[in-house]
Amino acid sequence: PVLIAAAVIGGYLLGSIPFGVLVMRAAGAGDPRAIGSGNIGATNVLRSGKRGLAVLTLLGDGGKGALAVLVAWLATRHAVPHTQAVLTALAGGAAFLGHLFPVWLGFKGGKGVATFFGTLLAAAWPVGLAAGASWILVAAVFRISSLAALTSALLAILFALLFGRPMPIAELALFMAVLIYIRHIPNIRRLIKNEEPRIGGARKAED
Ligand code: G3P
Repeated sequence: PVLIAAAVIGGYLLGSIPFGVLVMRAAGAGDPRAIGSGNIGATNVLRSGKRGLAVLTLLGDGGKGALAVLVAWLATRHAVPHTQAVLTALAGGAAFLGHLFPVWLGFKGGKGVATFFGTLLAAAWPVGLAAGASWILVAAVFRISSLAALTSALLAILFALLFGRPMPIAELALFMAVLIYIRHIPNIRRLIKNEEPRIGGARKAED
């Protein structure tokens, strides 16, 4: 019970650090919630025109998910493998929830895509790598961040079933994917209307 609480609370607190808001503020570049989609993630930070800050946001938001998983994995190394696996997945899931519902921002957080990748990479790197590759592929072809996120979130479940380690990776991927879809409802509406902005492009789709 103590370990469960530590994994959940520790993961949540780590995940609730809003790197997009922090790096933009630190750079005196304003607040991501005031521009573009209003989201606190790297995609929206990029809309400020500051590519370096977007990269930092991606690394911070991804890194905190990975860190939560790695710390939980190391802290439970003396536990039986099943317990270690469950606690590690719990910490990763909690970090993801922390990003979506950070106490510091009145529980109004991000969409979880970077944290999703960081968590998966640390929990089962082949799954994270394959999901990341699918994001890059879709983003390269369509230049729409949300479409890439929605595709890779779905595929991650499949990749987890195919080559997730003997730990609840598929459950973790499914949990995060469902929340990613719920968080992207406004994006899905814009995608259907062909109004979702392209990465680095004009606000509206041209074709
Ligand atoms: O990672 C979030 C991305 O999928 C969508 O972001 O700002 O276009 O809503 P945004």
